[in-house]
Amino acid sequence: MKKFSILIAGGGSTFTPEILLLLLEKREQFPIRKIKFYDNDEERQKIIGEACGVLIEHKAPEIEFSYTTDPETAFTDVDFVMAHIRVGKYEMRGKDEKIPLKYGVVGQETCGPGGLAYGMRSIGPVIELIDYMETYSPHAWMLNYSNPAAIVAEATNRLRPDARIINICDMPVGIEARMAVICGLKSRKEMITRYFGLNHFGWWSDIRDKNGKDLMPVIKAYVKENGFNTSQIDGHTDDKSWTDTYNKAKDVYAVDPNFIPNTYLKYYLYPDYVVKHSDLNYTRTDEVREGREKRVFEEARRLIQTKNVENCGFEVGNHAEYIVDLARALAYNTQERMLLIVPNHGAIENFSYDAMIEIPCIVGKNGYEPLKVGKIPVFEKGLMEQQIAAEKLVVDAWVEKSYQKMWQAITMSKTVPSAAVAKLILDDLIEANVKYWPELR
Ligand code: NAD
Ligand code: G6P
Ligand code: MN
Repeated sequence: MKKFSILIAGGGSTFTPEILLLLLEKREQFPIRKIKFYDNDEERQKIIGEACGVLIEHKAPEIEFSYTTDPETAFTDVDFVMAHIRVGKYEMRGKDEKIPLKYGVVGQETCGPGGLAYGMRSIGPVIELIDYMETYSPHAWMLNYSNPAAIVAEATNRLRPDARIINICDMPVGIEARMAVICGLKSRKEMITRYFGLNHFGWWSDIRDKNGKDLMPVIKAYVKENGFNTSQIDGHTDDKSWTDTYNKAKDVYAVDPNFIPNTYLKYYLYPDYVVKHSDLNYTRTDEVREGREKRVFEEARRLIQTKNVENCGFEVGNHAEYIVDLARALAYNTQERMLLIVPNHGAIENFSYDAMIEIPCIVGKNGYEPLKVGKIPVFEKGLMEQQIAAEKLVVDAWVEKSYQKMWQAITMSKTVPSAAVAKLILDDLIEANVKYWPELR
């Protein structure tokens, strides 16, 4: 069996240890000869790199492991790049959340003005990763989690249309795990689903078990009362803001009970509610820094110091499983059905041909084959048209260095009440992002 070489770009991420652990766990089905981490923050990379080195040394010393901040060393001799960079790190995520909130607008990592701002930061560095990959390992695949995945996908599709990059999201997977609990199934893999939309902006239209039994009625009845709050344990379970998001899904569902919505639609359909329940001095970034980031880095430091890998505190879940499943599907032609962010090209008949949409695809050795969706209804289509326009305008703004386009993008977001408010937010965002955005004129 061929053995693979894997690079994790954004190696200092809070999600790196869980992906590493899963790769080690699955190496019977997915043999690995080499693992490398790459990050542009040496200090952050060193802590996660040293800790993961302890794990590899203990569990699979035959795997060659290294971490680096040098692109050539990182990208040479690689089969898969798993990318999850956060351009501007948590410091900038905090600003994305707090600046819009100051003006009474949703402050969120990937939705509303904060998400659009993050898009402007991410485009250049993700393109840079693609270029490194094409230079040093042109046959590799990049599996990208780096957010905002919707805008990153629009940009990579426009600027590097032939690149071997697949953009993905773990939110539908996480919600499906909760649906499986609702239906009394052992795993989300016992369900066959149909889904359509943009990234962080979509709906399930059909969910069946392997015998073809329709599971939508049971799930709908549950979501109507409880949203997606279940006993499912995952990375979001203990955090107050996410419990509220899973709960609010019941009100999102009520708007169109024909479908089951992604949690992220809350920010577009109930922005007033979101703002009212936000605290300008304590947003999701603060919660993550005191939660996941603290847990992961404390555990990393403990591992480095004690070298004690028993009872290792890193948690492995859907997030890691999904990206490893995708790599396996490409490596071994498994023909697995997976939700990916891909060019529409007619899959949704009545939606822009070149938009990047999130739909089920069959994945194998030669890449992915999208499944046909057909026509979508006026309500969902209308919402998607507005959102994709905002996302496309961000890419325009980045390419053309255009203040006007970025102002239009923020104005276009359903979360923003007027062009005047959009301008105030934009001017603050420009100041906050001087180190990351092209200079707009
Ligand atoms: P994090 O800040 O802990 O990790 C990101 C790492 O990327 C940092 O170590 C940082 O130094 C590094 N980095 C930033 N710019 C870089 C560059 N140009 N080159 C190399 N490295 C760079 O963040 P996190 O919370 O672990 O999340 C990581 C990313 O994964 C974020 O973009 C997040 O939104 C994304 N994410 C996406 C999904 C999804 O569904 N698509 C799910 C979870 C997380
Ligand atoms: C989900 C989404 C990701 C997003 C993450 C935020 O997993 O799919 O795209 O980055 O939530 O989670 P956090 O815990 O960082 O707020
Ligand atoms: Mn996502």
